[in-house]
Amino acid sequence: MITQSICMRTISCTPLPCQAGRRHCVIDTPGAAPWIGETVLGPERETSCTIIVNGTSHTVAAAPDTPLIYILRNDLALNGPKFGCGLGECGACMVLIDGRAARSCVVALAAAAGRDITTLEGLGNCRVQRAFIEAQAAQCGYCLNGMIITTKAFLAHTPHPTDTEIRSALQHNLCRCGAHIEILQAVRRAAEAA
Ligand code: FES
Ligand code: FES
Repeated sequence: MITQSICMRTISCTPLPCQAGRRHCVIDTPGAAPWIGETVLGPERETSCTIIVNGTSHTVAAAPDTPLIYILRNDLALNGPKFGCGLGECGACMVLIDGRAARSCVVALAAAAGRDITTLEGLGNCRVQRAFIEAQAAQCGYCLNGMIITTKAFLAHTPHPTDTEIRSALQHNLCRCGAHIEILQAVRRAAEAA
């Protein structure tokens, strides 16, 4: 039997397994998930697992170490989380797990079972999404899921952030288009709308 641990503090982690077989990471960002999910892989690779996404319970059949993003996008047709690096590095795939931002490409299905998962679709017409639209904070838009999810968790933790805190919170969400100025404006606007 193989035991695999997957760290949930998936903010710019080092995607290489450490000696304990873990993906581990080093960054503390307010609102990011700090806990570790343990996944035990048995001989039966596929099992049925129940996850709660956007308030609805879903039972899916998959190997317990399947990355959560595959379940969200392929099984549940929730395409808000984007697949970027697949290594916990870019932030495109972020979701909220129990209200904290986590990278769904490095969260195992079994680690997410029974937890409250919120995708971009589940945020609805929230002030963060409105602020990003009003600030026109996008070019291609591929990073926006991660930017919005990170901002949502960050503002819940730090409702009146300084510019330095905003930059720090978003520093591990990559935007290849260079829309950073507008994204920072959007976060400020969302904070002011609280
Ligand atoms: S961090 Fe998950 S796709 Fe890049
Ligand atoms: S807007 Fe294109 S990656 Fe950010």
